[in-house]
Amino acid sequence: MGHGEPHWWQTGVVYQVYPRSFQDSNGDGVGDLRGVIQRLDYLHETLGIDAIWLSPFYPSPMADFGYDVADYTDVDPLFGDLATFDELVSAAHARGMQIIIDYVPNHCSDQHPWFVESRSSRTNPKRDWFIWADARPDGSPPTNWIGPFGGSTWTWDETTGQYYLHIFLTEQPDLNWRNPEVQDAMLDVLRFWLERGVDGFRIDALHNLMKDLELRDNPPHEGTLATHRTHGEAFDSQQHIYEFDLDDNHEPIRAMRAVLDEYEAISPRVAIGELHIFDLQRWARYYGDALDELQLPFNFGLLNTPWNATAVRALVDAIEAAIPLGGWPNYVIGNHDEPRIVSRIGAAQARTAMMLLLTLRGTPTLYYGDELGMRDAIVPAERMQDPWGIRMGDAQFSRDPARAPMAWDDSTTGGFCADGVEPWLPLAPDHATTNVAAQSADPHSMLNLTRALLQLRRSSPALKSGAYHPADDVPEGVYAYRRSAGDDRYLILLSFIDQPVTLHLPDLHDAEIALSTSMDREGRVGAGGVELRGHEGLVVRLG
Ligand code: NOJ
Repeated sequence: MGHGEPHWWQTGVVYQVYPRSFQDSNGDGVGDLRGVIQRLDYLHETLGIDAIWLSPFYPSPMADFGYDVADYTDVDPLFGDLATFDELVSAAHARGMQIIIDYVPNHCSDQHPWFVESRSSRTNPKRDWFIWADARPDGSPPTNWIGPFGGSTWTWDETTGQYYLHIFLTEQPDLNWRNPEVQDAMLDVLRFWLERGVDGFRIDALHNLMKDLELRDNPPHEGTLATHRTHGEAFDSQQHIYEFDLDDNHEPIRAMRAVLDEYEAISPRVAIGELHIFDLQRWARYYGDALDELQLPFNFGLLNTPWNATAVRALVDAIEAAIPLGGWPNYVIGNHDEPRIVSRIGAAQARTAMMLLLTLRGTPTLYYGDELGMRDAIVPAERMQDPWGIRMGDAQFSRDPARAPMAWDDSTTGGFCADGVEPWLPLAPDHATTNVAAQSADPHSMLNLTRALLQLRRSSPALKSGAYHPADDVPEGVYAYRRSAGDDRYLILLSFIDQPVTLHLPDLHDAEIALSTSMDREGRVGAGGVELRGHEGLVVRLG
């Protein structure tokens, strides 16, 4: 942490809203910004989060559900309009909450006027705003690059007789950030939203921003790549060194950060970046040599690591060690691209994971519905929406299951949309029990556990911004750490195994259980130590 008081983005908890799936207010089966406004009291009062990250709501043909932006400075009518957005910002700010929006600099939609112009002729002034290249002599694409959604990253344009680059879908042409006009236009997009009062950006696909100038072929690779979910054999068959994590990425990121800093005097803003980089030394470079890049380079380690005490501790310790002096950690256990945490590690461990997320040193990002322990939805093939699943012809790649509508109550539509309206995706199979209304009434529910953790975190300088010290003398299967800020001191004990174990750490003699993941015990720890039940997590206040 830097000098002085920590910033809101260090002590606060970020909550990701996938707008399509949170709350429909106008009866079309798709969530919208008005719906988010209607649920602000839930987010603020019931739950107690600090900042909302909104996935894209921009005008878009929705080839990738909004990550194909056709206009960076407007709202798609499906989600509302600019006036509703402004209302959302004011309503959030009035409650002391921050608004973070998605910014998608790597690519736009093929329907964006910039690309429409660019593809109209080789001499169009916007031609160089995208990455065009000739075919090889045999007519094949300029490089061998395979994109994360499968297939070549190049599409042939008949009219102008060249290929254009798209790391993701054909409908998502990559912007050419080497062109200063592109940089200027895209930095102005940041200013547009900063002027409207947004508190920060979650920046999409930053690892891909710059591409090799010489357009060289990626060398072959054997085995699985260190990404947290497979992108298929073709993607894994090459080392992605010429379109991924280039050293050249850092200069434009510094330029983005400098724009945020222009507004820092009005109020602190945050740059969070999506980076699927699992080499921690390379990942940590995105804080910037002078801490002048991302305040929070997304850290996806917990999505990737084997779920056991040894591996999780090793990961956290390695992250702590990798972060440059003055840099601040962050953690994620779910998002719109990953299977739900409960579906990955089971309901009992999901509670432990929530305790971990909300007690580690660093900013947590909580994916909507994970506070309920929502499961992956079952999406029949004919209802599959995600272009990734459709393109690969394989449901294992579909991200639909984690994007199911938020379950507010036990009605057929879960309170997500009006009765009789079909939600854009089916609800999770257990939504009749796993929903906000049912869990609010159950003192032991995942929702009440999450609320209690958030409350505890808010009340404690140690948990919000204190030091982190892993504890060594603990039984196998347990991960324990201390958090401290002056006299405020906690010990967190997390069991990753079935069997109960007893812990006798010296500072447990004068300690008090503040919270159990089972939500059924509090009170002083005796001289005999503390029994940690299978899969239980405890937050213990130290004397
Ligand atoms: C990462 C986003 O999180 C994902 O949903 C999207 O499909 C790709 N970037 C492309 O924008």
